[in-house]
Amino acid sequence: MDRELLARRYYNVETLRRAARRVLPRVIFDFADGGAEDEVTLRRNEGDFDALELVPRMCKGPAERDLSVELFGRRIELPVLIAPTGLSGILWPAGEILAARAAHAAGTIYCQSHGSTCTIEALAEAAPGPRWFQVFLYRDRGLTRAMTERAQAAGCEALILTVDNQVLGQRERDLANGFSIPPRLGLRGVLDMASHPRWLLRMKAARGISFANYRGAAGHEDDIVSLGAYIAKMLDPGLSWRDVAWLRGIWKGPFLLKGILHPEDARIAAEHGVDGLFVSNHGGRQLDGAISAISALPEIADAVGDRLVLVLDGGVRRGVDVVRALALGARAVAIGRPHWWGLAVAGEAGVALVLDIFRRELDRAMALSGCARLTEIDRGLLGPVGRGAGATARPRRGAQPRFSQIEPSSQSLASPSRS
Ligand SMILES: Cc1cc2nc3c(=O)[nH]c(=O)nc-3n(C[C@H](O)[C@H](O)[C@H](O)COP(=O)(O)O)c2cc1C
Repeated sequence: MDRELLARRYYNVETLRRAARRVLPRVIFDFADGGAEDEVTLRRNEGDFDALELVPRMCKGPAERDLSVELFGRRIELPVLIAPTGLSGILWPAGEILAARAAHAAGTIYCQSHGSTCTIEALAEAAPGPRWFQVFLYRDRGLTRAMTERAQAAGCEALILTVDNQVLGQRERDLANGFSIPPRLGLRGVLDMASHPRWLLRMKAARGISFANYRGAAGHEDDIVSLGAYIAKMLDPGLSWRDVAWLRGIWKGPFLLKGILHPEDARIAAEHGVDGLFVSNHGGRQLDGAISAISALPEIADAVGDRLVLVLDGGVRRGVDVVRALALGARAVAIGRPHWWGLAVAGEAGVALVLDIFRRELDRAMALSGCARLTEIDRGLLGPVGRGAGATARPRRGAQPRFSQIEPSSQSLASPSRS
């Protein structure tokens, strides 16, 4: 589809999400859209943004806005990064490469997941712009070390150690759909795939999709099911600050932890030579009941904002959410699901559109708030809830998602009531 038509038809992230829901098999859509258990944290991530009122300033004449920001010495054009998401290649062949190219064209950073369907080296060759790489800590430290060294050799500019995924959250939509290891798709799942012929044809052409960085690591099978099981077995729930210090010592360059929500952990991270944090709850996919990322941010910013670069992810769906996150102390945000919706609908052009939507919405929000530069966005722009000294930004319980995440036709397990 031509880019202009694409932009007319999909004018915000939610329109793309709805389209992704149509074009993807249910099992794939739910894998991305869903969260852990009752999806309370997933809903909070989005809903808690709404509680943060903006109090715009007038007559300051921000005739033109500058959306650029510096992260670890690199200036980027948009404070919206692509968060690491494993298996992007199941939406669209070479999904990671396409998303990285779109990110670079928009002047931002692509964070490659350990679980990408192309290798670190292939991504570096096909999309040589700024890339960060995300790793886990494995029982076999040699595996973590090897991946870290490969990322360094391939020119990744920062390393992200994800610390909230050492035990896998229970994603109950996946259980219902049979999207597990080993898969238990059943007839319904097979029919689901068959009823999305465009996706099926594209994926058929891209044979052998798997966790590319692990090929050969398990010593035998390289298929997605065997490697998925191997990775899950390798995750070390015993992860400690000693391990953080160990990896810090190996990586030469900016080193970030992803999945920090407690201000005390943020302080300890700073003491262990960490340079930045993803304030994140893994998009509500791990500990259900955890605080939303945006509500955790202010206390973390108060604790370490002057020492560490803070990136917020989880529930960012609008340009005004970027303003809210920056006002509470984030230097940038990262988006997971939104870029998947763009990828599912139109490949590289779809991710480019998502980033353009964020650019336009952020620019408009800044113009309407009286901010010419990102550095002018601070807590003074927020209403009483957001301004509260050191207070979290969470005034209400059980926040609702802004858009109907769970349409009535869905028989998801994620409905707010448990019955
Ligand atoms: C489908 C999917 C796969 C993900 N894979 C990873 C991963 O491999 N590593 C990681 O650290 N986080 C992963 N995440 C979490 C994202 O990096 C990010 O924290 C989250 O998506 C942010 O929330 P949002 O989707 O509301 O933007 C994944 C998220 C999704 C939705």
